[in-house]
Amino acid sequence: MPIPILSGSCFALMAKSSSLCYHISQHRFSTSFGGSFFFLPLSLAISTFLVIFLYIWCTNSNLFTDPQNNHYQESSPKSSLLQQMIPFSLEKAAEDMFYSSRSAPLSKGNQWSMANPFGLYGNYVNNTEVYHDEDFFLEDYKEMNRSLKVFVYPHSRDDPFASVLLPVDYDPKGHYASELYFKKVLSKSHFLTKNPSEADLFFMPFSIVEMRHDPRIGPGGMQDFIKDYIFNISHKYPYWNRTDGADHFYVACHSIGRFAMDKVFSARFNVIQVVCSSSYFVAGYIPHKDASMPQIWPRQGDPPNSASSKREQLAFFAGTINSPARLALIQAWGNDTDIFAHFGRLRTPDADQLLGSKFCLHVKGFEVNTARVADAIYYGCVPVILANHYDLPFGDIINWKSFSVVVHYMDIPVLKNILQRISLQEYSLLQSKTLKVRKHFQWNDPPTDYDAFYTTMYELWLRRSSVRVRLSASMEFM
Ligand SMILES: *[C@@H]1O[C@H](CO)[C@@H](O)[C@H](O)[C@H]1NC(C)=O
Ligand SMILES: *[C@@H]1O[C@H](CO)[C@@H](O)[C@H](O)[C@H]1NC(C)=O
Ligand SMILES: *[C@@H]1O[C@H](CO)[C@@H](O)[C@H](O)[C@H]1NC(C)=O
Ligand SMILES: *[C@@H]1O[C@H](CO)[C@@H](O)[C@H](O)[C@H]1NC(C)=O
Ligand SMILES: *[C@@H]1O[C@H](CO)[C@@H](O)[C@H](O)[C@H]1NC(C)=O
Repeated sequence: MPIPILSGSCFALMAKSSSLCYHISQHRFSTSFGGSFFFLPLSLAISTFLVIFLYIWCTNSNLFTDPQNNHYQESSPKSSLLQQMIPFSLEKAAEDMFYSSRSAPLSKGNQWSMANPFGLYGNYVNNTEVYHDEDFFLEDYKEMNRSLKVFVYPHSRDDPFASVLLPVDYDPKGHYASELYFKKVLSKSHFLTKNPSEADLFFMPFSIVEMRHDPRIGPGGMQDFIKDYIFNISHKYPYWNRTDGADHFYVACHSIGRFAMDKVFSARFNVIQVVCSSSYFVAGYIPHKDASMPQIWPRQGDPPNSASSKREQLAFFAGTINSPARLALIQAWGNDTDIFAHFGRLRTPDADQLLGSKFCLHVKGFEVNTARVADAIYYGCVPVILANHYDLPFGDIINWKSFSVVVHYMDIPVLKNILQRISLQEYSLLQSKTLKVRKHFQWNDPPTDYDAFYTTMYELWLRRSSVRVRLSASMEFM
């Protein structure tokens, strides 16, 4: 019976052109039945019916719905279960809900064939250089190192907000250390200038982390503090008004920083924000204008000799379940023997797993960023990125696809296939490149060439303004 064949070919062609479908069905039947007068209209009727039926079937099964609208739709049983299980706000997790509501009604087979954007190999590229253009980077870096100048708005030790505005005098620790490290190292670096007229960039040294903990400010007072701060500098100095803040920057590692500029719109749209929580999905982060900085848990001393460690486990993840992506991971691989996905704290040191696994998973939690990527790199474990819309740190200098495996949420069910298909030979290539980028993911005080500090300075250098209205001499020194 030819009808199943017909429906198959029409289905395949439907997306391209229904008239083509009509043409083929006409052709197939007119040749095989010698131009039968009765069969032609009948076959057309049947094929039209099939096309309509398939169309209704396809559109009802959510395959072709607009992902951006999905969270307005009634949620599937699975996503309402998710909402009960996970304590986070729906609005904030809109992106995750897109994942869960879209995938819920699909079988694994459908999910795989319709949604895998990167192919069976995940998104990584063999034989690719670590840098987009190494020669250019090295030359331009030298130029940056020689000529970049930063003016930091000065504040005295007596300022009531000195703790927010001045660099810390201890070794920064914890999840948001990147912000404190940057300011501390910058304050002693050769990039500083006391002469604003030779500055390429102006640093507003308020600390998002310190503001968050300061009882006078707190998360709720941050926006007003920054509004006052910008009012103050724009009245006391002429530099803000020249560009409406476009040559000004601040640094934040805590994701709360993305709301910090909400009361000064020109700041939000003009200031260069150097942040860890760099997600394409959220307002408040503008790719290319803003820069992505790695979240790094600072570690003392040299990395362990990780290249030679025996990596017998395929992949490792440990953390709390605070997002649908992590829930999907535990559902798919929670009991697996090759992928060790542990939810909660490990009893043994994480370092054992980071040294004993070939791949270390970074799975988006509340935010796209965690210190896991830098941890994996530190221990020479090839990072696997499961964080859709993450503008990866230093991505305009280093090529993430050359040393990590980027996997879409939809591919969590086939994660093991993706990782197992990477041969030992390919793995050692990926790992050697992971070790090559390691220097960019470390803070040092004093800084060393190409470390997290210098690489962040280079990101700023790429974003410096080239257009500047020259001030008259009298204005420069008002
Ligand atoms: C990567 O390179 C290896 C060795 O050169 C080759 O055998 C393998 O097929 C390549 N894999 C991909 C995904 O291109
Ligand atoms: C960058 O500048 C510092 C301080 O002048 C210097 O020690 C370092 O060697 C320079 N690095 C490069 C690559 O030019
Ligand atoms: C702004 O300036 C006023 C007056 O000098 C000062 O009291 C206030 O603390 C300053 N605010 C900020 C956020 O710097
Ligand atoms: C900057 O612009 C604001 C608003 O137009 C103005 O009030 C302020 O005086 C200007 N600052 C300087 C230093 O001229
Ligand atoms: C893992 O195994 C336990 C015990 O056999 C079972 O209760 C649980 O449902 C399994 N989890 C998954 C995600 O398969």
